[in-house]
Amino acid sequence: MPATSKQKLQKAIREKLEGYRVVVASNREPYIHYLKEGKVAHLKPAGGAAHTLDSILQACGGTWVAYGSGSADRRAVDAEGKVQLPPEKPKYTLKRIWLSKDEADGYYYGFSNQALWPLCHVVYTRPIFRQTDWEYYQKVNKMFADAILKEIGKEKAFVWIQDYHLALVAKYIKEKRKDVICAQFWHIPWPNPEAFRICPMKKEILEGLLANDMLGFHLRYYDANFINTVEKEIEARIDREKTSIICHGHETVIRAFPISVDFEEISENVGSQAVKARAAHFREEFSLSDEVKVILGLDRIDYTKGIPERLRAIDRFLEKYPEYKERFVFIQMGALSRVHIWQYKDLNDKINELVEKINWRHSTENWSPIIFTRRTLSHPETLAFYRLGDVCIVSSLHDGMNIVAKEYISAKNKLDGVLLLSRFTGAARELPEAVLVNPYDIEGFADKLREVLQMSQKEKARRMKQLREIIVRNDIYRWANKFINELAKTVKILR
Ligand code: F6P
Repeated sequence: MPATSKQKLQKAIREKLEGYRVVVASNREPYIHYLKEGKVAHLKPAGGAAHTLDSILQACGGTWVAYGSGSADRRAVDAEGKVQLPPEKPKYTLKRIWLSKDEADGYYYGFSNQALWPLCHVVYTRPIFRQTDWEYYQKVNKMFADAILKEIGKEKAFVWIQDYHLALVAKYIKEKRKDVICAQFWHIPWPNPEAFRICPMKKEILEGLLANDMLGFHLRYYDANFINTVEKEIEARIDREKTSIICHGHETVIRAFPISVDFEEISENVGSQAVKARAAHFREEFSLSDEVKVILGLDRIDYTKGIPERLRAIDRFLEKYPEYKERFVFIQMGALSRVHIWQYKDLNDKINELVEKINWRHSTENWSPIIFTRRTLSHPETLAFYRLGDVCIVSSLHDGMNIVAKEYISAKNKLDGVLLLSRFTGAARELPEAVLVNPYDIEGFADKLREVLQMSQKEKARRMKQLREIIVRNDIYRWANKFINELAKTVKILR
């Protein structure tokens, strides 16, 4: 039997990283502990990256360093702040970092999510650059670096840094241990140089990232944006042939790795009895009859996700095509996110208002078009939700990749679904057989809704089959494997 992508990754790590400690670092932890009826319980946070990386750590072991943000996180760890995960069947170690409220405010809510997040997602939300946030960002990045250095001691190590919260970690590590291999994956878009140039801390951020030996983005387009930004903003030598940058005598290779999902796990578990039972439960909860088409949306409530745009498209669709009344229902699951930031609160209020207005305008005696539920779904619930969806809408205004799109495809074993996907997601570049939409074009969006609701099962199956072939060939293990192999090829220390 040919080796699976998971087995190939396990082999690559065994062979290429022999003798190296592997440490993954991210802001978000893969499991959060909280108190439920006086007892410590756990859940997986909403949002894709931590969930997908958990599959890799489960397959390969190692240590994961992350911010302990759960209300009962301290109760679940040992004296060193460590806990073995997953809780039911431990396969790797999570080392938690503790932040004070001020540190979390400045580093996470402040610089990460009010400066870098809107700066990199060009959706016309102004970034705010506060000096105090920046100071906390540097402080917390140093705390991460120190925790990682303590963890690896004198050993040889590979540190795999995740995302925009930790842009300075590689620099702080290399200042103390040049020999530690650092590579970073940036999970959000990298904007063009004109957008990035407004950042007052641009030089420090670029130089921080260039302390890595390899830097990965989802798309070549983001690689090009990053290289062009460096060219305009700092003194560095760019080798376009090798796609690398030499800054302060250190070379960083820049590569594209479109992230993916655990296709096999999803397509296997979506058919389990437990998931089927949950899907039936949802049908009952939302009073869904078999005749009604279910359109779904599953997002963190974030202004990049285009949730108001999709609601307006539904409104316009019903205005234009009232014959569709009572023939579908749109269910949006929205996990609350970053609630201490005023734009997120505003967005929440705006969504409430829109849902109320649209339901009032179009509802009939027995039917309302929109069901909006603020909930963080567990993994089995997410799969059950995908089972229900005849159509899944992903309408981000700008998105690095979008994991929901790929999960939905992986869950559609029976080829009985359509993906309506924003052109402005990284996923759209890989998934041409999705029905692509510009979420800003409400008229066009409404027409696309009609197109997908009218689509024959034969056409749905044709498209879904091709989409699934793309994901099965490029699952999360292949993503990690490509990352490790590329690193081994370019960083000479690895075999
Ligand atoms: O998609 C980008 C990302 O930063 C992920 O890495 C993360 O899982 C997600 O957004 C959720 O954001 P937060 O950790 O702020 O809830």
